[in-house]
Formats: sequence, C-alpha cells, structure tokens
Amino acid sequence: MSLEETDDLHFVGKAEDLVLSKRSVVTVEGRDVLLIHHQGEFYALDCYCYHAGTSLETGDIEELNSKLCIICPKHKYKISLSEGEGLYRARDTSLTPPRVRWFSKGPKQRVHQLSLIQGALYLRLSSRGRLESDYYQGERGKVEREKAERAEDTGAEEGRGWSWSRSNETEEGAGLELEP
Ligand code: FES
Repeated sequence: MSLEETDDLHFVGKAEDLVLSKRSVVTVEGRDVLLIHHQGEFYALDCYCYHAGTSLETGDIEELNSKLCIICPKHKYKISLSEGEGLYRARDTSLTPPRVRWFSKGPKQRVHQLSLIQGALYLRLSSRGRLESDYYQGERGKVEREKAERAEDTGAEEGRGWSWSRSNETEEGAGLELEP
C-alpha cells in the first residue's frame, strides 16, 4: 500500500514546490489547512484565524518571545507556528516596576503534523480536543466566516458582540492586547 492510500496520512504536495511557493492552502477531509515553509522548516495549521476566521495565508511571520509566530492580517493576533498558541503583550502589574511582557493564551489554533518522506509532504490531521480555530472550518465554518466578515464590514454592534463572546478570550486578555 502506498503512503497516499493510508487513512490518516494525506499526500499534500512535493516539498520542493512548497519551498518555492513558501505557502499553500490544501483541503483535507473538508478542512482547510495552511502549509508554510519558513527558515528551512515546514508547518501546517488551520487556515482561518481562531479569533474571527480571517485567512492567515498572507500573515507576516516574526519571532516573538523566542517563538516563530504568524500575525493575522486582520486584527494582528499572534499565533505560534509550532503549537498554535495565542500570544499577546500586556502590562504585568505584579512586577516592580510594572512592565509590558508577553503572555500566553494557550493553544488556540489547531496545528497538524507535516512529514517529509522522500521529497513528498504528508499531512496527518490533528483532532485532539476542541480548539477555537475548529469553529471556522467546514461548511458551517464558511457561514460563520462570512458572518464575521459582514459584521466587520458594517461594524454592526451585534456582530462585534458575537465575535468576542464566541471566543473564550478573557475581557482582560482581549482588552490588553498590545502591538509589539
Ligand atoms: S481575525 Fe485574526 S486577529 Fe481577528
């Protein structure tokens, strides 16, 4: 049996193609996954930002708090490429004197396993637990992404409330998010 035929391992392209393109979006079992090649490493994560479903495909990549992160083009949330961890900066008042530092929100964006086998890339989807980025996947996710986009465009109060309350962000975490 070839690798392509195994149930949980999906051929998603040649490594050399991703090295050239740097990014590509593949759909596996109805899930849209962003593949990234950056500084010699391959990464795979859910394509749509856990916050409000914007595609991360054009997000900048920066090293923040010693972690490579993709920055969502919409509201600039920072997501670590390896673990899908949400990072934000805020003032830590427990320090003397208080100063701004990085905090972690824990895993928010689902990351997947990408294996390089004889020049080909194979994806194994992660399905462990429930993560916020799951919300924007599949047919229902498409509807929710469009809803979030409309709310953003119109600035409708209802849309904003829905977006913030859907996420498990604490008021504090959301309110204190600062640009690096
Ligand atoms: S949609 Fe990504 S930060 Fe808001």
